[in-house]
Amino acid sequence: MKFFIDTANLEQIREAQDLGILDGVTTNPSLMAKEGIKGDENIINHYKTICEIVDGDVSAEVISTDFEGMIKEGEALAALHPQITIKVPVIKEGIKAIKYFSDKGLKTNCTLVFSAGQALLAAKAGATYVSPFIGRLDDISTDGVALIKQIVDMYNYYGYDTQVLAASIRHTLHIIQCAEAGADVVTAPLSAILGLLKHPLTDIGLEKFLADYNKLNG
Ligand code: G3P
Repeated sequence: MKFFIDTANLEQIREAQDLGILDGVTTNPSLMAKEGIKGDENIINHYKTICEIVDGDVSAEVISTDFEGMIKEGEALAALHPQITIKVPVIKEGIKAIKYFSDKGLKTNCTLVFSAGQALLAAKAGATYVSPFIGRLDDISTDGVALIKQIVDMYNYYGYDTQVLAASIRHTLHIIQCAEAGADVVTAPLSAILGLLKHPLTDIGLEKFLADYNKLNG
């Protein structure tokens, strides 16, 4: 399973990259706004900086909701860096745009996916990644992880190449559940990734090892 970090925060992206386990980055307009990145030039420079920090795919989202606008924006974003993946919402115009980008060999991430039907159309259009938002489904008493499993099974049955990118991850257990469900990629906040390392027996065990060593060598 690939690990992406879901943030536009450069410090956190660097920290995840330094861990040596990072496969890519996802951003969205809300995450860019959270970092105070505004204005086309600053946004473009921020994407370029992220691409310089990490080795893998970097999702950059279009703002347009019409086909022509998405094409213009998406092609400009893709031209910034070979790692850029064009992030497109799963609406009618978005599906058309994903098909267009796919035919041109450009990478896409179909976002705001909340149903198996949306994921099916994204795969048919040739999306590189499909992003089901599991936390937002959980928020409305719907099982987000079950959707990941449903989409993974559906894609496996028909042999679609589209990778299931579990998004809207809220906590560490979501990462484990998505791995069990067969997600190809999980994009998570740094805190949820680092949570995977936490275990009290590890801390107690390490403390004992160091104490025993220091008894004789300290
Ligand atoms: O990648 C999409 C994701 O960031 C949405 O997460 O927490 O805003 O539901 P959230």
